[in-house]
Amino acid sequence: MPYASIELSVADRVATITVNRPDKLNALNAATIGELGDAIDEVRRRDEIGGVILTGAGRAFVAGADVSELASQTPMQARQRALRGQQIFRRFETSSKPVIAAVNGFALGGGCELAMACHVRLASDAAKFGQPEVKLGICPGYGGTQRLPRLVGMGRALQLLMTGEMIDAAEAYRIGLVNRVVPGGELLGTADAMLRQMLANGPLALSSCIEAVVRGTETSLDDGLNLEANHFALLAGSQDMAEGTRAFLEKRPAVFGGR
Ligand code: COA
Repeated sequence: MPYASIELSVADRVATITVNRPDKLNALNAATIGELGDAIDEVRRRDEIGGVILTGAGRAFVAGADVSELASQTPMQARQRALRGQQIFRRFETSSKPVIAAVNGFALGGGCELAMACHVRLASDAAKFGQPEVKLGICPGYGGTQRLPRLVGMGRALQLLMTGEMIDAAEAYRIGLVNRVVPGGELLGTADAMLRQMLANGPLALSSCIEAVVRGTETSLDDGLNLEANHFALLAGSQDMAEGTRAFLEKRPAVFGGR
């Protein structure tokens, strides 16, 4: 599928989605958000793709929603905008294939929210994070008030949300917003290596981990434990479990087929 504001490339099971409006620091206008939705749907649909890296072109990951579009919105348009973006970001989070954000630069507002909807966040040492919406007189609309406290705790989340301050990659790592910080030149290679480490494992097992964590953290502990037991049981019927356990006992690497 041809895209205008993003790029989607695939190399040996690894897809890379690059937000590509560098002159606007990859700000998410309506068209770009729509293309992100199309791209994650394409990744989810194409069997030859095992997982995806999401990154940005130039010096930003994504510098937020496009402020020029926000400036004139009515309340109903704003609600529609928020719901649409939330629903598209949710498709990244609920992907059964792993999604790694490779945060190369500014991840502000919707950019920070997009990174938080990914399963793992790796950051360049030049990356900057923040939820500066309050400086515009608005609050986050793409999930920031919900995912940020889940990742860093309520107190730190409220501090970031209410000051609108920008933090560097080291601070983002310290508070648990990102998994790892690497030199900028090593970011995509590190993301690729981590994704390939994941893809060497059973695909059904990966999707079970994602669903049990993403759905499980929204339920009671008892319901989450039950969900985990059900995934554990489902995998017991898979060829992947038979192969993985047999390979261990035969002291050889497993070859998983995702069945
Ligand atoms: N929406 C629309 N355009 C944006 C944008 C956004 N969120 N973020 C950056 N841009 C545009 C700028 O308007 C500028 O365009 P221009 O060259 O046509 O004037 C271009 O991207 C470069 O940005 P600039 O501000 O000149 O770069 P900088 O290095 O001085 O500052 C930032 C970088 C990220 C600190 C600054 O761009 C910024 O604060 N952006 C907005 C962040 C924000 O509030 N996001 C949340 C929105 S809800």
